[in-house]
Amino acid sequence: MADHAIRKLGIIGAGQMGNGIAHVAAVAGFDVKLHDVAEERINAALATIDGNMARQVAKGGLPDEERRTAMARIASAPALADLGDCDLVIEAATESEEVKRKIFTAVCPHLRADAILASNTSSISITRLAAATDRPERFIGIHFMNPVPLMQLVELIRGIATDDGTFETSKDFVSKLHKTISVSEDFPAFIVNRILLPMINEAVYTLYEGVGSVDAIDTAMRLGANHPMGPLQLADFIGLDTCLSVMQVLYDGLADSKYRPCPLLVKYVEAGWLGRKTKRGFYDYRGEKPVPTR
Ligand SMILES: NC(=O)c1ccc[n+]([C@@H]2O[C@H](COP(=O)([O-])OP(=O)(O)OC[C@H]3O[C@@H](n4cnc5c(N)ncnc54)[C@H](O)[C@@H]3O)[C@@H](O)[C@H]2O)c1
Repeated sequence: MADHAIRKLGIIGAGQMGNGIAHVAAVAGFDVKLHDVAEERINAALATIDGNMARQVAKGGLPDEERRTAMARIASAPALADLGDCDLVIEAATESEEVKRKIFTAVCPHLRADAILASNTSSISITRLAAATDRPERFIGIHFMNPVPLMQLVELIRGIATDDGTFETSKDFVSKLHKTISVSEDFPAFIVNRILLPMINEAVYTLYEGVGSVDAIDTAMRLGANHPMGPLQLADFIGLDTCLSVMQVLYDGLADSKYRPCPLLVKYVEAGWLGRKTKRGFYDYRGEKPVPTR
C-alpha cells in the first residue's frame, strides 16, 4: 500500500530529462515545480515543454484544452525553498555525483520531513546518494527514459535503506503516469544502461579502430540488428557526457576492464561535442540534415 499519494512534484534540473518528466507529470494531473541553476534555463524548459505538447496536440495525442491545463500546472521554482511543499522531488541534474550530492545537501533542509526524494540518475549508486541526504529511507531511484513523453519504461531502484512506503508510493506515482515499471537492484547503471551503454561504447571502439565509418556502423546496426536508431545516433541523443559518465560508473563500480570508456568518446566530450544538445557529436546537427563527423 502506498503510504501517501503524491500531488505536488518538484523537479531539480530542467534539462532534457527534467522537462520531459515535467511534461508527463503535468499531463497526468500533477502540480509541478521546476528548478534549475538559472531562471533562463527554467524558461527555456517551459518553452520546450510547450513546443513538445503542441506537437502532441498536432498529432492528435492530446486535446488542446488539456495542453493548456497541463502547462498551467507547471510553475517555475527559481529557489530550492520553492520546493518546500512538494510531496516528491525528483533530481534530474547533470550526471555527476558531486553535483547531485551538493543539490541534496542544499535542498533537504527545505523539504517536508515526509517528502520523498528521488534521483533520475542513469548509473550512480542510489544507496550512496541516499547516504548524502537526511532521509535515506525516503530516497529512491526513479529512472525515466529519454524522451520521457514517448518512452514506456521507468526503472525503480531501491537503495539499501529505502522503506516499503517510499517504494509503494513511487510505484503508484509512476503507474499514474501510465508508464511500465521494471524493478532493478542497486548495482552500477541498473538494467537498461548496464546492457545498452557497453554496446554504445563498443560502437565507439569500432569507429576508433577504423572498422567502419559513423554511417557504416549506424546503418549496420539499424538494418542488421533491427535497432530503430544506430548506436552512435543514440549516443548523440543521450548526450556523450552522460554516456561517458555511465561508462566510468560501470568501470569504477564493477572493476572490470571490459567497461573501460573508449578514448574517442573521451575526446568528443573534451571537445564539448556532446551530441544533439550542443549540435555536434558523432553527427553535426547545425545544417538541415545531420552529417557524420567521422
Ligand atoms: N539523457 C538521457 O538519455 C537520460 C536518460 C535517463 C536518465 N538521464 C539522467 O538524467 C539526468 C539529467 O540528464 P539530462 O540528459 O536531462 O541532462 P541535461 O544536460 O539536458 O540537463 C541537466 C540540467 O541540470 C541542470 N543542473 C546542473 N547542476 C544543477 C544544480 N546544481 N541545480 C539545479 N540544476 C542543475 C543543468 O543546468 C541542466 O539544465 C542525469 O542524471 C542523467 O544521467 C539521462
